[in-house]
Amino acid sequence: MSTAFEPVIAGSLKLRNRIVMAPMTRSRANGTLPTADTATYYAQRASAGLVITEGIQPSVIGQGYPFTPGLHSSEQVGAWRQVTDGVHAAGGTIVAQLMHTGRIGHPSTTEAVGHGALTPVGPSPVKAAGQVFTPTGPQDHVVPDELTEDQIVATVADFADAARNAVAAGFDGVEIHGANGYLLHQFLATNANRRTDRWGGSPENRIRFTLEVARAVAAAIGADRTGIRLSPANGLGDTAEADHATLYPLLVAGLDTLQLAYLHLVEAGDPSLTPTLRAAWSGTFVLNAADGDTSGQRRRLDLVTSGRADAVSFGRLYISNPDLVARLAAEAELAEPDLSKAYGGDHRGYTDYPTVDGTRPAL
Ligand SMILES: Cc1cc2nc3c(=O)[nH]c(=O)nc-3n(C[C@H](O)[C@H](O)[C@H](O)COP(=O)(O)O)c2cc1C
Repeated sequence: MSTAFEPVIAGSLKLRNRIVMAPMTRSRANGTLPTADTATYYAQRASAGLVITEGIQPSVIGQGYPFTPGLHSSEQVGAWRQVTDGVHAAGGTIVAQLMHTGRIGHPSTTEAVGHGALTPVGPSPVKAAGQVFTPTGPQDHVVPDELTEDQIVATVADFADAARNAVAAGFDGVEIHGANGYLLHQFLATNANRRTDRWGGSPENRIRFTLEVARAVAAAIGADRTGIRLSPANGLGDTAEADHATLYPLLVAGLDTLQLAYLHLVEAGDPSLTPTLRAAWSGTFVLNAADGDTSGQRRRLDLVTSGRADAVSFGRLYISNPDLVARLAAEAELAEPDLSKAYGGDHRGYTDYPTVDGTRPAL
């Protein structure tokens, strides 16, 4: 029996404990560049067994929100170096989450960073219900341009290039964002993917894009430093998955043959599927458990002790507890995050959360 405070191996990643910082978009980039504050924020949280960054766009068109960073230019690679150096100096392990937002985006967002007003892309020209945050506030989603076959192949290559850039920037690996209603998830979803070619229709066809991205990233940087995040049936980004109970076991079995570093499951839509997916996965299994509000989340540690997961991730509690591992180990009080400062703004609500003894974390 292992506890969450013991190390675990995930491919070539050596996690010093099984408490993972979940990826969180914080919308504080300078244009599309991480800043010195970004470096401070992640270094403060380096005692996590694994730090997963906020979603990072692998291409210009992959950017869905203002002030999110990229990994598709040499300037961005250079700016990430301060982040990876900071985490490594603190003894931590950090991977970059590669997030292409697909149809969730807005022309005004790419325009604001000097790339012109680009229409977001998706598997099919199906607009997501609801609104997206833009440089001028929330606006309705737009109808995305349907990716051509050639563009699909080019998008797969963009993920591989961004993964190479991540390694060049000093990251220990990448996490492919296949969750939460973004591009990969849109291909999986029955309502967002209406294609009739080999990328749509049957579950076998709808998982193809995710498998191709995973294969390409693994070929680019090594499967042993490639993780992937999935969120069966969580409905985010207006995704509906009529056949998730069939599709995800198929997808996870396909991914399992690639021998990736880890699978990061967001358990929200259908927790009853988790044991099936865990059984279909022979590698390291990281669970982001569906347990609602942050009070009582220390119970997640039991998921490791009971063997339901190899590691557990925490999102919101990592906003407000830079020393979350130490607090959990000491059974100390956990601070609640101020979610009004989750997205955008300055260092407030970002790097100014104290450690449990009232000091700012030593860097
Ligand atoms: C402010 C904020 C930003 C988020 N951004 C991302 C993201 O960029 N990528 C991602 O996969 N999940 C993102 N999430 C989801 C979290 O990783 C996590 O799955 C979710 O918060 C539930 O876990 P928790 O109960 O530990 O907070 C975000 C969540 C929050 C609160």
